[in-house]
Amino acid sequence: MCGIVGYTGPKQAYPIVLKGLKRLEYRGYDSSGVALMNDGKLSVYKKKGKVAELEDYMIGKDVSAHIGIGHTRWATHGEPSDRNAHPHTSANGRFAMIHNGIIENYAQIKNELTNKGYSFTSDTDTEVLLNFIENIQQHNDCSLEEALRIALKRVTGAYCILLVDSEDPETIIAARKGSPLVIGVGKGEHFLASDASPIIEYTKEVVYVNDYELAIVKPNELILKNLGNEKITPFITKLDMELAAIEKGGYDHFMLKEIFEQPSTIFDCLRGRLDAVSGTITMAGIDQHIEQLKAANRILIIACGTSWHAALVAEYVIEELCRIPVEVEYASEFRYRNPIVNKGDVIIAISQSGETADTLVALEKAKENGAFIFGVVNAVGSSIARISHAGAYTHAGPEIGVASTKAFTGQLAVLTMMALSIAIQKGSITQERYQQLLTELQDVPEKVDAILKNADELKVIAEVYKDASDFLFLGRGYNFPIALEGALKLKEISYIHAEGYPAAEMKHGPIALVDENLPVVFIATKDSYHEKIISNMQEIKARKGKIISIITEGDEVSPGLSNHVFSIPPADELIAPILSVIPLQLLSYYTGVLKGIDVDKPRNLAKSVTVE
Ligand code: F6R
Repeated sequence: MCGIVGYTGPKQAYPIVLKGLKRLEYRGYDSSGVALMNDGKLSVYKKKGKVAELEDYMIGKDVSAHIGIGHTRWATHGEPSDRNAHPHTSANGRFAMIHNGIIENYAQIKNELTNKGYSFTSDTDTEVLLNFIENIQQHNDCSLEEALRIALKRVTGAYCILLVDSEDPETIIAARKGSPLVIGVGKGEHFLASDASPIIEYTKEVVYVNDYELAIVKPNELILKNLGNEKITPFITKLDMELAAIEKGGYDHFMLKEIFEQPSTIFDCLRGRLDAVSGTITMAGIDQHIEQLKAANRILIIACGTSWHAALVAEYVIEELCRIPVEVEYASEFRYRNPIVNKGDVIIAISQSGETADTLVALEKAKENGAFIFGVVNAVGSSIARISHAGAYTHAGPEIGVASTKAFTGQLAVLTMMALSIAIQKGSITQERYQQLLTELQDVPEKVDAILKNADELKVIAEVYKDASDFLFLGRGYNFPIALEGALKLKEISYIHAEGYPAAEMKHGPIALVDENLPVVFIATKDSYHEKIISNMQEIKARKGKIISIITEGDEVSPGLSNHVFSIPPADELIAPILSVIPLQLLSYYTGVLKGIDVDKPRNLAKSVTVE
């Protein structure tokens, strides 16, 4: 949430910062701004709206500077507006700062500052923190670094901040707690950003800054310290990512590109791990901890949003294959109640970004209670990946469209491999069933490819229902979480109200919504629940609802009950969710596009939810 970027070095800072903001725009896009420093003159420009509006506003301005910081905002404190946009300038005009996160005790600090005569030009917690730092600096007559260190000891909440000082024309000071920060190490230059996407074009050598660390960044020097002022040796990591992975590659939107990438992202996820010929799954994170996983009394899966839906699918799969009880928790609920975590419990955390604040804090809490944490994460090197004791990456590559698509199918692939590995080693499934599912999983990329070839059929359906005010998504068993995911995708991308329900549960309330105007999407692939879901379709048809069915090729019954059908290749019921979600992603995408919505940046959302 919120994207931050900074540059110090011999090049012109503005084009680098602006391009970086465009790459980070998925993190928030209600306003943006830059602070540029040229010969000790600090200039701050900011604008409500997307980065393109800032870019227009900057035309004709003097942007020459070798040091710059920029911010793209997802509002927390204060409505989206020019004055609440970052960077903020301190009262005396000497410092400028950008911030990603929330300062929870800002009201108390603001009070103290107001009593000292400070007034504020914005409604943000960021301006409060900046003036707090300024006040400490003036009062102690110390360096900015020292003032920052003192201030951060008083602050509660989450932050990644970048600060510049007009009296120190080549240094950016950064600090993080709970919000990500990556520093790119170039030749005589440094790049700072919320993730690696603004950096990859210039250098592949990066340092991931940890919580409670401060970075003093000059063109030729990078000093890392802890809040106790002790130096820490920066650990340089080589990025394993290509520039093409973060560009649209000819697609109209990142979301469409990411949907269409799924045959290759799922293949990449399985590659080197699953070998159906030799009947093996090799995943270091699992193999090294197999005894602990096999012996788990209970598995708790913690996640948010789409990742939470992957957790629900995993609950069905793990319980079926491994016979281990599974509980799925919203991270935001888990962290605030007093959950029972026993010795012998295993926690699986699922996250695309690896930075979701609720998930991260829930894990910290579980870790303090002695739980073993296994991370299923997409973003390499992210906070959740680092806090986990073991884990497996989904290898879906950078996901930039705000609505999660390819990360979800990657999560399902990893979790299914994980369940299969545990099950075969535990002896809870037969060798024959194991082998059959390995082969099925290996065939998924090809089947996804076949589904995508018929994407236009979904465009036609989207055209028919784009003006509907509500949608119902129904599924049973392994496809119930897919109904939830279909509804979430549609809400996010088309702003149409949608509900996902277990198809049988519909009778207990939502059926009251059904009339001739309500489109009802059934995820009705051939599985052990098929006859039951056919009865549910009859119930909707009897009430004149419009039925859109996702069915298995060759199903002769569902088309007779449906207004529209979309067929997917046959698959085992455990594997089917990885396929059945694809048409729902496409249905949402086309509906959003037909409604003229910016599907990569739908209103009010941000990709990486680093605030609670
Ligand atoms: C939905 C979506 C969100 C995320 C959720 C968790 O399309 O993207 O619901 O799934 O914010 O994010 P991660 O997986 O990054 O923890």
